[in-house]
Amino acid sequence: MESKKIIVTGGAGFIGSNMVELLLKEGHSVEVADNLSSTGDDRFLKPLYELGDLKLTKIDITKREEALKLKADSIIHFAANSDVRHGFENPEKDFDSNILGTFNILETARKNGISDLMFSSSSTVFGVAKVLPTPEEYGPLLPISSYGASKLSDEAMISAYSNYYGIKSTIFRFANIVGKNSTHGVIFDFIKKLVKDSKKLEILGDGTQRKSYLHVSDCIRAMVFSHEKTKDLDVYNIANEGTTSVMKIADMVIEEMGAKGVEKMLVKTEDGGGWKGDVKVAELSPVKLYSKGWKNTYSSDEAVRKAVKETIEQLGLGS
Ligand SMILES: NC(=O)c1ccc[n+]([C@@H]2O[C@H](COP(=O)([O-])OP(=O)(O)OC[C@H]3O[C@@H](n4cnc5c(N)ncnc54)[C@H](O)[C@@H]3O)[C@@H](O)[C@H]2O)c1
Repeated sequence: MESKKIIVTGGAGFIGSNMVELLLKEGHSVEVADNLSSTGDDRFLKPLYELGDLKLTKIDITKREEALKLKADSIIHFAANSDVRHGFENPEKDFDSNILGTFNILETARKNGISDLMFSSSSTVFGVAKVLPTPEEYGPLLPISSYGASKLSDEAMISAYSNYYGIKSTIFRFANIVGKNSTHGVIFDFIKKLVKDSKKLEILGDGTQRKSYLHVSDCIRAMVFSHEKTKDLDVYNIANEGTTSVMKIADMVIEEMGAKGVEKMLVKTEDGGGWKGDVKVAELSPVKLYSKGWKNTYSSDEAVRKAVKETIEQLGLGS
């Protein structure tokens, strides 16, 4: 990418802060637009200021007048309610942060002449896919969570805006992304639970749920790589070959934490998933990405192992 001014919404969050680091190292000027809600933290940005031109603008993207103040050459849009688990109790959060928030970002692009967009969608748009590994062209897309539905709705609106206003857009359907600066997800949860009680580990679901995990370093580099190939509008699975089961993750966490005699307790649900709206098996096909010449550095298991170590270290629990 040539040097640009790039807005990273949600840049104080997990994947966003990793992307900000990469962009600064590539010589771009970055404005993070984030409301520093529960998962966003400016401590992830503090070490990055010395890398280049970085600015943090505290805004809430659900407020259109705030979003419209953003000006740049490109937008990388991560800001969202990333909590997939609580849609059943609170679907409104997915609507506000993800649907309305993304619409406001699209309006910002349109009104401020920003013609380049990357968007973080999710494997959850596929719902319970009948084809595994699931390719980008699979359909019908029938999400089973309000989070998945919100991302699908965002994809549709991005497609329309790209067509109407010539906004070059790449939609990325992420697998489960893990690694440095993560503040949520299964690895983080297991570590926190073991810190609280080192003899018991509660596992949501029947433990056989399996998903493709991808290290955040592969995720952000694959995004930049594939966006460069996009002409007008494209969609990519950002994923790994193969999957890792929840039970295997639990074992890795126990091992890396050095915990002994841990009783694993399954909290079984109706369909064996972790929560209402959880897709039990999520395996996206990375074939399209690979066919363009991309190769991930870490496999699903390796990504999980690396992320477990990084999270232990980051929480100050390392020996
Ligand atoms: N982590 C994953 O495995 C994964 C998988 C699929 C899709 N995604 C998507 O990728 C994106 C980044 O995920 P993440 O794991 O880094 O999430 P995260 O929760 O760590 O980061 C989201 C960031 O957005 C900010 N934000 C939330 N609502 C906002 C609002 N209304 N206005 C301004 N900022 C707001 C938060 O403060 C946070 O910094 C999200 O869109 C998420 O849905 C993540």
